[in-house]
Amino acid sequence: MDFKGRRPLIIAFLAEFCAAGVTIAAVQGYFALVGTDMPLALKLVIAGMVAGGVAYILRATLPWCVFLALLPSLFVGAMILQLPLWVPLVILALLVLIMRNSLGERVPLYLSNQKTLDLICSLIPNDRPVSIIDLGCGFGAMPRALARYNTHPDSRFHGVENAPLPFLMAKPLAWRASDTRISIKWQSLWSVDLGAYDLVYAFLSPQPMPQLYKKAKTEMRSGTRFVSNSFTVPDHPPTKTIPVRSGRATELLIWTMSD
Ligand SMILES: C[S@@+](CC[C@H](N)C(=O)[O-])C[C@H]1O[C@@H](n2cnc3c(N)ncnc32)[C@H](O)[C@@H]1O
Repeated sequence: MDFKGRRPLIIAFLAEFCAAGVTIAAVQGYFALVGTDMPLALKLVIAGMVAGGVAYILRATLPWCVFLALLPSLFVGAMILQLPLWVPLVILALLVLIMRNSLGERVPLYLSNQKTLDLICSLIPNDRPVSIIDLGCGFGAMPRALARYNTHPDSRFHGVENAPLPFLMAKPLAWRASDTRISIKWQSLWSVDLGAYDLVYAFLSPQPMPQLYKKAKTEMRSGTRFVSNSFTVPDHPPTKTIPVRSGRATELLIWTMSD
């Protein structure tokens, strides 16, 4: 069975189902051996390990495995604190709204740091028109930083995002910048025509890189650049690599497109 992170709810159901089954069996065994009820903490550890382990075996993304491992404790904690059942459900819904692509595309939300924004700015002229897109722009910091750096009125700084909460944050932040050259769209990166851009920036994960590189090669014009933060493409070494000198061990991988 190959779930590839595309069926997170089925994985969640299977993981928690197995966790409940194994924990119940362990409680019976414990009672038979020790003659008392198993301590609650031990039940939660067993349930968490089984849920996380099953999710991992079914190749769920790491944040989803961790969340499923913690879910039994969250529910029991909510019950002990006498919180209404909707509290953990709302937490779950918020996580899905923020991390939607961690479940489906295996791309979690983490943000480019200031050093990376500065480095991307240093790759472009500040006084000539450029057209740049951030594929999966999160809160839209990259298009805003580029727009502050490059002052040409004909430049375009685009971002696409399809996780609800990051998009809902990116939109007003872009409006607040009051710069019509910035545009944030609710759109999947897979439906963007990359041929319109001089530089395409992506900070995703290893999973989509081979397919995205293929798309970039097919659509991008000769001489334009595809830049990936940290994630490379197997068998396609970048034209250039620039280390990002920050706390994180990251680098920018740059492919200059040729005919
Ligand atoms: C690691 S974050 C990077 C955020 C931002 N680019 C930055 O550098 O700060 C990856 C982002 O890509 C988004 N994403 C993943 N797959 C996507 C898709 N198919 N279409 C649009 N956005 C996507 C995620 O929701 C997430 O916000």
